[in-house]
Amino acid sequence: MNSFEHIMATLDYPMCIVTTCFENEKAGCLVGFSTQCSILPQHYLVCISKQNYTLEVAKKAQFLTLHFPSVDQIELAKLFGETTGDNIDKFSFCPWYIGPYGAVIIKDDIDWFIGKIIQRIDLGDHVGHLLEPVSALKVSTGPKLGFQEVKKIPAGHPIEEEFE
Ligand SMILES: Cc1cc2nc3c(=O)[nH]c(=O)nc-3n(C[C@H](O)[C@H](O)[C@H](O)COP(=O)(O)O)c2cc1C
Repeated sequence: MNSFEHIMATLDYPMCIVTTCFENEKAGCLVGFSTQCSILPQHYLVCISKQNYTLEVAKKAQFLTLHFPSVDQIELAKLFGETTGDNIDKFSFCPWYIGPYGAVIIKDDIDWFIGKIIQRIDLGDHVGHLLEPVSALKVSTGPKLGFQEVKKIPAGHPIEEEFE
């Protein structure tokens, strides 16, 4: 691990679970690379790995749903971070519903917002999705799940050197 990677490994930032759908296909994964990136207008950037099944569906989608799990929702984070839609249907292991804009929303005590994809940006091994929030629900009061709590989770599509 080089010094840059060491610094990155010590940072903490909120984890999110990104879900999306196109026609009958649903997909979702655990994401660490995301941030609000503009206040006026409100914009949010979320980066999805080119290795992930989620990107295949996101390429065709108009909206992404970003869920921000609490520390006590680590099992949900593991479901979306450890397994891949290449070989399992994650949505048969957690309750979900179709919300505004036809977005897939995880049915749990979890904060979420739906973002309209207004730009896709090639960032290297990830694709950045610039989002305009169009709907949101704040229901959770607990502390959010951060990178330090999940960095040892083995990713369904590993880029091991990034997270060690
Ligand atoms: C701590 C951690 C952080 C991750 N961050 C990202 C990320 O920022 N973007 C991403 O696309 N995948 C990220 N992943 C990997 C995906 O969540 C994982 O490979 C998932 O199994 C992909 O599922 P899919 O193939 O169904 O899309 C992360 C995984 C872990 C454990």
